[in-house]
Amino acid sequence: MSGTSLDGLDMALCEVSGHGKETQLTLLAFETHNYNDLFKNEVAEVFSKQMVSLEKLCLLNSWIAREHASIINAQLKKWNVEHTEIDLIASHGQTIYHAPKRQHQQEIYENATLQIGDGDHIAHHTGIITISDFRQKHVAAGREGAPLAAYGDYILFADKKVDRILINIGGISNLTYIPADGKFEDLVSTDIGPGNGLIDAWVKQHFSPLKYDVDGKIAASGNITIELLDAMMQDPFLKSTFPKTTGPELFNIAWVEKIILENGIKIEKNEDVVATLTAFTATLLTSAIKEFTSSDNPCEVYISGGGVHNKLMMQTIKTNLSEIKISTTDAISINPDAKEAILFALLANELVAGDGSCFGNGSKSAPNVGMGKVSFAG
Ligand SMILES: Nc1ncnc2c1ncn2[C@@H]1O[C@H](COP(=O)(O)OP(=O)(O)OP(=O)(O)O)[C@@H](O)[C@H]1O
Ligand SMILES: [Mg+2]
Repeated sequence: MSGTSLDGLDMALCEVSGHGKETQLTLLAFETHNYNDLFKNEVAEVFSKQMVSLEKLCLLNSWIAREHASIINAQLKKWNVEHTEIDLIASHGQTIYHAPKRQHQQEIYENATLQIGDGDHIAHHTGIITISDFRQKHVAAGREGAPLAAYGDYILFADKKVDRILINIGGISNLTYIPADGKFEDLVSTDIGPGNGLIDAWVKQHFSPLKYDVDGKIAASGNITIELLDAMMQDPFLKSTFPKTTGPELFNIAWVEKIILENGIKIEKNEDVVATLTAFTATLLTSAIKEFTSSDNPCEVYISGGGVHNKLMMQTIKTNLSEIKISTTDAISINPDAKEAILFALLANELVAGDGSCFGNGSKSAPNVGMGKVSFAG
């Protein structure tokens, strides 16, 4: 898995048996390979940009795949695992553009999203069958290609007795709501809005060489600028109903700067912006959780993704929702950093070994379709 934070390649070594609700998954090992500056800079040339060099895009599609293949090969060596022991690689690829219709608003085009780092190259350079490009079928079925977490969340976390909310705080944050003893059609799967993405962008620009706000320390040293927080909350995307998806094409540093400028907001210091952006994500997550809970319907909330390491953000959410049980997915035996990668291993397993029966008719946000394309190694 390689997400919008462009921080690294998450590799989860999973042993899987069965399919659907009978799936048994054991995480044997997990590691994130942090991308070097060359990788980040190359991808940044096309990442979430409206205008790019077509040649660059063409070159990156195979280059990213070769880079991923060599990272995987090195990791298997480090883990002392033979290539022949691995049945499948599930490769998400690198999202370079996410364009739901609500965002591009062009009449003749439907929802679209693009992940590159072609599976054929990974299969060829690792010698392992590779399942990739999971999002296109979801788009083909009329949805936005994201979030795909709902499928794995349902397989792993649906509970007979309690409603559960799974939240992942990556560059963008997303939510899966699974009612107690619920069918797949009852589930809600949606993006919430920015996760760590805006915080990372502001920190990179103003606190170089830092790449993110380690443990939320910068935010903790600043003050929330209420005017900025209020102005950001007015964005139409945030006011539209679930399910919905978004990306850094909308929520980026230019979006923050424009809001500051247009509203004539006075910023005392950059720490205050980091504090405000952190409060912004925490506020969005809090109100999303509230939307699915009520006093007579207690709900368990489990959070994953890099955002769980931002102590201030986690503490703010817990303080805002003191009556709700909020934990990281560690509490249900899933490493929060590994969760997204595990979910793609599950999707690949469903493609090759599943029959889709547990997904019923699909839900409004998550259709029942087999996702991923198969690349043989030859
Ligand atoms: N110690 C930490 N303190 C604060 N933030 C952290 C810490 N460690 C990681 N993060 C945040 O987590 C981000 C990486 O999260 P993650 O890998 O889950 O996101 P992603 O790559 O966008 O993935 P995805 O799209 O799968 O959610 C970093 O960019 C950073 O913002
Ligand atoms: Mg990441």
